[in-house]
Amino acid sequence: MPHSPIAVFDSGLGGLTVLRALRGQLPQEDYFYFADTRFLPYGDKPEVFLKERGVVIAEALARRGAKALVIACNTATAVAAEAIRAALPLPVVALEPGVKPAAALTRSGVVGVLATTRTLLSERFQRLVADHAQGHRVIARPCPGLAEAIEREGPGSVVVEALLDQFVEPLNAAGADVVVLGCTHYPWVAAAIARRMPAGTTLLDTGAAVARQLDRLLAARGLLGGGSGRLKVTTSGAPQAVSATVDRLWGQHLPVEHWEP
Ligand code: DGL
Repeated sequence: MPHSPIAVFDSGLGGLTVLRALRGQLPQEDYFYFADTRFLPYGDKPEVFLKERGVVIAEALARRGAKALVIACNTATAVAAEAIRAALPLPVVALEPGVKPAAALTRSGVVGVLATTRTLLSERFQRLVADHAQGHRVIARPCPGLAEAIEREGPGSVVVEALLDQFVEPLNAAGADVVVLGCTHYPWVAAAIARRMPAGTTLLDTGAAVARQLDRLLAARGLLGGGSGRLKVTTSGAPQAVSATVDRLWGQHLPVEHWEP
């Protein structure tokens, strides 16, 4: 139904960077955000587990009455998008690292990709590079520990800064002029990544493209509008612990409730 909410999920609070873009494009819609904090990080978990978990979450969100689902997580998309689409009778928008626009933008011919280990190991990512980055050098850098550190220690923390030194420097050394933020947590540290690269380096995240895609899908199915801009944020973890991080990242207080798919 047009007045039903749009469901959005991630392993944690990275998907809030996507949610921000969705609300920018479709402010009248209602949103139900689920952070699967209990299982953060997804990036180091086995593929079988993530596929199963992704389908369980997606089915529960559909039962809860969502009119569409946004998988606001590159890792979940990489391993579970097909299974989720097959299981759900709803429009599903998934996101993947912006390798295609990066290949079109690079002038040095070197594209850097920062993402989770699981995303970079996935067949889907390998296909993305083979199909869209022919003739370019793609430096794919897994960033273990970064998503959790952004949530637990904070985007400006010493731990995050040290991880970024380690992960971003190889891209700089290789001469990348476009850096793909291939995990939805990384836009929270975009400024710190940009600081480590030469001026003029382009950082690409896919939030805005996902929002346009959702807009088109809902319009095509007559599902646009009907909400009133409401936002519910939920977590499989402890709401009090998650709440402080949500407020810090979002920049204003948002109530957080417990929800179990
Ligand atoms: N935010 C997620 C992504 O876009 C994953 C972070 C994690 O849980 O490892 O890949």
